[in-house]
Amino acid sequence: MRILSGIQPSGSLHLGNYFGMMKKMIDYQENEDLFCFIANYHAMTSLLDGKSLARGTIEAAANFLALGLDPEKSTFWVQSDLPEVQELTWFLSNFTPMGLLERCHSYKDKVARGIAANHGLFAYPVLMTADILMFQSEKVPVGKDQKQHLEVARDIAIKVNNTHGGLFTVPEPEIDEEVATVPGLDGQKMSKSYGNTIDLFLEEKALRKQVMRIVTDPTPVEDPKDPDKCNVFQIYRLFLDKERENAMRQRYLAGGLGYGEVKQELFETVRDFFAPYAERRRELLADPDGIRAILARGAEKARYTANKTMRKVRKKAGLAY
Ligand code: ADP
Ligand code: TRP
Repeated sequence: MRILSGIQPSGSLHLGNYFGMMKKMIDYQENEDLFCFIANYHAMTSLLDGKSLARGTIEAAANFLALGLDPEKSTFWVQSDLPEVQELTWFLSNFTPMGLLERCHSYKDKVARGIAANHGLFAYPVLMTADILMFQSEKVPVGKDQKQHLEVARDIAIKVNNTHGGLFTVPEPEIDEEVATVPGLDGQKMSKSYGNTIDLFLEEKALRKQVMRIVTDPTPVEDPKDPDKCNVFQIYRLFLDKERENAMRQRYLAGGLGYGEVKQELFETVRDFFAPYAERRRELLADPDGIRAILARGAEKARYTANKTMRKVRKKAGLAY
């Protein structure tokens, strides 16, 4: 099955990004036809400093590769290395009702938070649709926050297909309910923009500080505690198999467990889990040209598939005359 997803190269990575999206993608490379890219055009809606974007792109590639993405088993590239996606965006724009974009929560939320309502932000879901349709993607794993954008992509695909029969595969979202929303330090969705993250590649001291900031209630140590209402547990369980999760549950219910103690355990678990990946990431970042070479080969592979779609689009649209 053709599976595609992208991640923006803006800032550091947190557990929500890892469990909500990256881990799933990396697991797919073994048995599926995986397309994975760095959405640097999308990042421009919040980052206009060129140097930071370029640096962020290399780092995002290093992150994915360090966490296990294998460019031989998948197609891995940077969005802007295939500017064809902008041509497809324009084609799709002509099938996109204004109302469809006006209804997007992500856009409305950003504007409500005071981000300038420019055309890039507004048209963002159309570009995302182009990413998906360009590669005839069947399944798109994303976090819950991107669900509506997938509905937009489906609507647009269906609309185009009504005019130009069967031009695009209509994509299905894949949202894993177990980890649909990884909670942050305060129990809200973990997100860079809420400042409530636990980051993947931090120095030990900074990581410990983040974990210790997880909000807990004032239940005394000796009292039984409800794991399902505890932010520490909700994050910890992402690292535990069913058996260890149950054992931890019992410790909560038995009483005598202090939040400081579980936080310390969680901190050590996160640190040890990501330590080997952090090492690999350092090695990759020491050779940015090596990363660029991997991305260039990835873009070539991606272009082969993109060209097949674009030839059809140009023909149908009358751009090939
Ligand atoms: P942020 O909210 O921190 O800005 P992004 O929007 O860059 O994160 O998200 C990148 C990817 O990670 C997306 O696929 C998104 O759905 C997923 N993701 C981000 N935060 C979470 C979360 N808390 N739980 C599950 N998935 C998440
Ligand atoms: N908008 C997505 C995000 O912020 C990133 C993205 C861009 C994407 N194009 C995509 C995800 C296509 C899936 C498919 O997380």
